[in-house]
Amino acid sequence: MSKIILTGDRPTGRLHVGHYVGSLKERVALQNSGKFDQINIMIADAQALTDNADNPEKVRQNIIEVALDYLSAGLDPTKCNILIQSQIPQLTELTFYYMNLVTVARVQRNPTVKSEIQMRNFEADIPVGFFCYPISQAADITAFKATTVPVGEDQLPMLEQTREIVRKFNSTYAEVLVEPQALLPDNKACLRLPGIDGKAKMSKSLGNCIYLSDTEKDVQQKVMSMFTDPNHLKVSDPGKVEGNPVFTYLDAFVRDEHFAEFCPEYQNLDEMKEHYKRGGLGDVKVKRFLNSVLQAELAPIRARRHQWEQDIPSVYEVLKKGSETAYEIAQKTLDEVKAAMKINYFDDLDLIRSQSEKFKEMTKPQ
Ligand code: TRP
Repeated sequence: MSKIILTGDRPTGRLHVGHYVGSLKERVALQNSGKFDQINIMIADAQALTDNADNPEKVRQNIIEVALDYLSAGLDPTKCNILIQSQIPQLTELTFYYMNLVTVARVQRNPTVKSEIQMRNFEADIPVGFFCYPISQAADITAFKATTVPVGEDQLPMLEQTREIVRKFNSTYAEVLVEPQALLPDNKACLRLPGIDGKAKMSKSLGNCIYLSDTEKDVQQKVMSMFTDPNHLKVSDPGKVEGNPVFTYLDAFVRDEHFAEFCPEYQNLDEMKEHYKRGGLGDVKVKRFLNSVLQAELAPIRARRHQWEQDIPSVYEVLKKGSETAYEIAQKTLDEVKAAMKINYFDDLDLIRSQSEKFKEMTKPQ
């Protein structure tokens, strides 16, 4: 069986380092591994509109930001299709048919939907489109017959819902759809990078993100202002590394080579953590080290971004080409889905023949 990737992001803001370690970096590695037959990366604008219906301009502006983030992080349009969800109408059509296979109660139990409803204070005013987005996400994944979906931890309930829809479809109609597997980063710290203020989630509204597109100076300022262990007042005090975002970021980003290059008095992160816990290692020094590590990782990304920014028409061309390829792929699946659901009237010669015979039989003189 082919190995196929589909994943994506809502274009509601620029991507931050949490997106990067949580999924984007993994996608680039998978792309470069050569182990996949097809890689599809989707800018989920239709999904973004499910809770931004009154703000299409925001979604439109962020499509290009997310595309630039993708390209600068190292996604290569010669190796993957970067597509815009709304340009693939087959996805909407699939969503409509899958809706018959899911109960309202099942969507209400989806933990991601539950917490997002709470976060947005929707309660009784949930737009139907928003409520149905897990079903549309199942359409995204299955249209490409994706086997592998590299995502952050928060998307696991979506994958589970997709797998249920696939099983239901295949057992009700025919074995057309493929059950996807989620792929999470191995490194625990990458699963959910906290904000620079130590809050559990990086979010634009909290203003606690480091963006891939931040300047060198922005990154430095943000790192130097990071929340640490509030009880580590004097350098000589023993410090805590658990729940200390500076160390969580180091867990997510640091490699042993970084020590050799920027902080040779330690061999690795364990040694640095031991010193911090013992006392005698100041926050400023750890933050300076984190800043060097982040700058080393982000500098090539920033440089690629500047290049693409000089040629925005090419970025749109990449999206157009990727969307065209995706359109063809999704159409093939939709044809199979419609055949399985017996709604392919004009392509089914057997149907026309057997109906002709049936009616001829009925009108035959007795
Ligand atoms: N829900 C994802 C997010 O919020 C975006 C998304 C849309 C997606 N369709 C998808 C992710 C399909 C993986 C697979 O970022």
